[in-house]
Amino acid sequence: MEYWSLFVDLLKTASAQVPGGMGTVLGITGTIFGSVTTYFLDKYFFKSFRYLNKQIKELTSLAHDVTLKKEAAELKLKRLNAAMKTDDIWSRKGGRKPNQYVQKRSAAIPITIIANLKGGVSKSTIAANLVAYFSKQGERVLAIDLDSQGSMSTLLLGRSPVDSDASKTEQLFRPDTTGDKILQVAVDAGHGLANVKLIPTYRAFDAFENKLMLKWLIGDIDSQTSRPIDARYFLSQALHDPIIRNNFDRIIIDAPPRMAAGFVGALCASTSLLIPTVLDKLSAKAVGHILNKIKYMEDAAIFPHIKLIGIIGTQSTNLSSKPQRILQVEQDLEALLRSHGEPSSLYLKDAFIPEMADIAAAAGSDEIAYLTYSKTQPYFAALGQIIKQRTN
Ligand SMILES: Nc1ncnc2c1ncn2[C@@H]1O[C@H](COP(=O)(O)OP(=O)(O)OP(=O)(O)O)[C@@H](O)[C@H]1O
Ligand SMILES: [Mg+2]
Repeated sequence: MEYWSLFVDLLKTASAQVPGGMGTVLGITGTIFGSVTTYFLDKYFFKSFRYLNKQIKELTSLAHDVTLKKEAAELKLKRLNAAMKTDDIWSRKGGRKPNQYVQKRSAAIPITIIANLKGGVSKSTIAANLVAYFSKQGERVLAIDLDSQGSMSTLLLGRSPVDSDASKTEQLFRPDTTGDKILQVAVDAGHGLANVKLIPTYRAFDAFENKLMLKWLIGDIDSQTSRPIDARYFLSQALHDPIIRNNFDRIIIDAPPRMAAGFVGALCASTSLLIPTVLDKLSAKAVGHILNKIKYMEDAAIFPHIKLIGIIGTQSTNLSSKPQRILQVEQDLEALLRSHGEPSSLYLKDAFIPEMADIAAAAGSDEIAYLTYSKTQPYFAALGQIIKQRTN
């Protein structure tokens, strides 16, 4: 109260001094009072309010992010669950085929995949020897090894592939892969095969393929290109590039004995298929397995029809008269072909690759039998001629 009367006295004194009297003094006092109040309100109330508002905005945006991430995770889980329910995880519809995939594939040079889901049936031996055969015929050959065992790489290089050769292969399985990349990644073959380039592979390719499969299954987006990861078509994108036509006459692919990402990519890229098999009952059954798998994928429009060059018998003794058990297997294979709507003549009776000590010896010293042992030449040459005829 004392302060208040002091304040009123002060006002009276001040108004007596100032022209305009009490009104002016009240005005000035009001302005000072207003400024001080605004300052304190801003400092202690509005600032806290602004801070709170900012916090609320940040929390809202965080909640939005979390919702988006949750939805994305749910979508990935949904895709994985859907994949578990299909007979073949690689045949999922949709995905992202390269532009003009079918046209480019039909304009490509012959791309022949040597495949069988059964192991140890001479795929890599035949692939390496065919590469040597076509090279000696004057063709520029691109050899692609997609089996992490690296058998064909070893045979063609004359030594095991080193990591620096092989780990580049991963670069081909990316959304931004091109034919140029193939030229950068390919290495020179050994044995003086000047017109042969090799895409080698290596052990860790297995793990890479598994990751690639998972990324494709959950529909991951590549962070560099912001494009979806559809592992099935990367190799097609590179191999059907016109630059490959200008640099090579033929591509030979050695497939692994399992449906891995590399193999599926190779099937999508290949124009023709050769199936080697040992001539026994179990192996003949496995031929049916790969034919069914491929048909399933063709029917699902994952890739257009791959021309079957033939089924070739391997690793049996070359006898002038075949034992009954082999004749039976041959008949089974012919029947299998007919059941797939293919002529039985696609069982290549005359191009048989027998069990030969020279082939085994060549493999033992990282040699290519066709180049080292003349006795083996007629067999690979006969097969090479058939492939040439059927891929022209
Ligand atoms: N005609 C043959 N005569 C003698 N040995 C052979 C013959 N063909 C293949 N081999 C030997 O049999 C083994 C398996 O051959 P190869 O590696 O070519 O089979 P693959 O089908 O590629 O096997 P994988 O499924 O493991 O890739 C090798 O040691 C190879 O040297
Ligand atoms: Mg092999």
